[in-house]
Amino acid sequence: MNGIILSGGLGTRLSPLTDAVSKQLLPVYDKPMIYYSISTLMNFNIKKILIITRPDHLESYKKLLGTGRQFGIKIDYEIQKSPRGIAESLIIAEEFIKNNKVLLILGDNIFYGLNYKFYKINSLKKDFGARIFTYKVDNPSRYGVVQLEKNNIISIEEKPKKPKSNLVATGMYLFDQNAVKYAKTLKPSKRGELEITDLNTIYLKKKKLKSLQLNEGSVWLDAGTFNSLLQASQYVQTIQERHNILVNHPYDIAKRKKWI
Ligand code: TTP
Repeated sequence: MNGIILSGGLGTRLSPLTDAVSKQLLPVYDKPMIYYSISTLMNFNIKKILIITRPDHLESYKKLLGTGRQFGIKIDYEIQKSPRGIAESLIIAEEFIKNNKVLLILGDNIFYGLNYKFYKINSLKKDFGARIFTYKVDNPSRYGVVQLEKNNIISIEEKPKKPKSNLVATGMYLFDQNAVKYAKTLKPSKRGELEITDLNTIYLKKKKLKSLQLNEGSVWLDAGTFNSLLQASQYVQTIQERHNILVNHPYDIAKRKKWI
């Protein structure tokens, strides 16, 4: 399986921090933010990773990560000229994905404590559809709210005033080999983006969209605002100091997995 990290975007909510630096290169305690999503993909045993970034940030990513060899993985890069939506990344990644399934993660989302084996994503067969990693929150109105019937997603509502559940979509999605084909049929939304929700809706209509609810005890943070960025740093610092471990360090994971 391949993995894509979406590291473009404007990062306006973090301006002026992001005026000269890519958001996903900002520090989350002791590592650049993108280390966390690279680690999540590695923990899913994904060794082929595509980073999609803005033209003006490409060199910084290459300087930081190179080919990925130091982590026992292979990193490729593609450019998104302007932030035309999360679903556009699948079209940009067409050659990279080929006919494989793909795990897509937003570069400003941090996951920790996932029970990686529990999701069995490696054993999914061709045409399995799509999966959204979901999480229960107290304030669902701020997110894409997912409504379930058994494990099938029957609706996704963006930032609803009256949420139908407290289960929300995180920034991690798994797609079968049809994703690029479907993404190409999408039309830009009012805000001019190819919306990931619209892509997921295609799968939903085919009754092929399921939820993978993050296991209890796991953590999902998004580091896109001043407060959440600070909270993420404090969380990582607390866990690392308390348990004397490294949270989401690709080098550490590569050593543990004997990839280096
Ligand atoms: P957002 O947080 O929605 O957007 P942003 O990062 O530009 O920040 P802001 O809202 O403060 O301006 O994006 C979520 C993630 O997806 C983030 O890691 C950037 C990435 N992204 C892209 O790479 N390309 C895109 O076209 C979009 C919309 C987002």
